[in-house]
Amino acid sequence: MSAASQYVRLSTGFNMPLVGIGTFRVTGREIIHDVLDHALCVGYMSIVLILNFIADTAAVYRNEEDIGHSLKKLMDKYSIEREEIFITTKLSPSDNGDPRRVREAVERSLKALNLSYIDLYLIHWPGAAGIPEGDIDNIKLRSKTWEALVDLKAQGFLRSIGVSNYNISHLERLMQDCKGVRPAVNQVELHPHYRQKELVEFCNKEGIHVQAYSSLGTSTDTSLLKDPTVCRVAQELGVSPARVLLKWALQQGIGIIPKAVQTTHIFDNFQLDFAIHESQMDRLSSLPQHKYAWNPNNVV
Ligand SMILES: NC(=O)c1ccc[n+]([C@@H]2O[C@H](COP(=O)([O-])OP(=O)(O)OC[C@H]3O[C@@H](n4cnc5c(N)ncnc54)[C@H](OP(=O)(O)O)[C@@H]3O)[C@@H](O)[C@H]2O)c1
Repeated sequence: MSAASQYVRLSTGFNMPLVGIGTFRVTGREIIHDVLDHALCVGYMSIVLILNFIADTAAVYRNEEDIGHSLKKLMDKYSIEREEIFITTKLSPSDNGDPRRVREAVERSLKALNLSYIDLYLIHWPGAAGIPEGDIDNIKLRSKTWEALVDLKAQGFLRSIGVSNYNISHLERLMQDCKGVRPAVNQVELHPHYRQKELVEFCNKEGIHVQAYSSLGTSTDTSLLKDPTVCRVAQELGVSPARVLLKWALQQGIGIIPKAVQTTHIFDNFQLDFAIHESQMDRLSSLPQHKYAWNPNNVV
């Protein structure tokens, strides 16, 4: 079976593909259409029977409407059923904390994406916009958000709900009062330069699937892709540095959503049928730590 066709069974009972495509900074209707077209085409060709397609977006990426528009056309083109695609989107920090705004945000995303349900809906950030990171109100606000999401899930608008950028303390608090629904996923920055070992162990123990973002070190920094150890392992295996970084996560059961606009990159990122040897994994997992994306650790 192709590595790109692997699924994880979420705690909600739904299957989620382990490999998807990220869409942060992917804007413009034609570009989005081409990116999704290539991703669907690659997934379709490599899997044949089961279509493996997961697209990750967010209200703040401001591309949901173009994704919805493109998906409608592409689902017709490839004769794809709704059940065969998996769409993740996220609640903007500006809507965090007020149940009415949370509901309206979900309704807006559903309308923009042209969907009757969202496969996975995440609280994008543990803090609420306009509230200082150190303010304990953040705890109360995200708890209210969670309660609203549990309701929306019960009503069938959201199949699975989860969080993003939550550290262990955020998760512990949430699970003390999660209204009977634990977060299915925690989407966090994760790669050999920022391994978050304790967080991964905690999530594994609690049945929360860890999905990595910025696996390639973000769109604005190439130091991870150019890391000498990553490049050396890539050379030893005869694959690209990007494939090493993606496989490093996948081999640990961590989901990935690399962002790529260039067709060669989209193709490269689905070619994950190889193994990284244990000694090479150890080398990759011993690199000095550096965080590239935003840091949630100051949010109470
Ligand atoms: N929850 C959150 O707070 C959060 C935060 C950040 C990101 N995310 C999600 O995670 C996704 C991925 O993270 P990211 O956008 O930070 O970037 P990323 O996936 O770490 O890296 C994207 C960059 O890598 C390049 N690239 C892609 N495939 C490549 C390959 N095979 N070889 C060489 N370069 C390659 C891309 O170039 P081209 O585009 O030119 O092809 C782009 O410049 C986002 O799009 C978003 O969906 C979530």
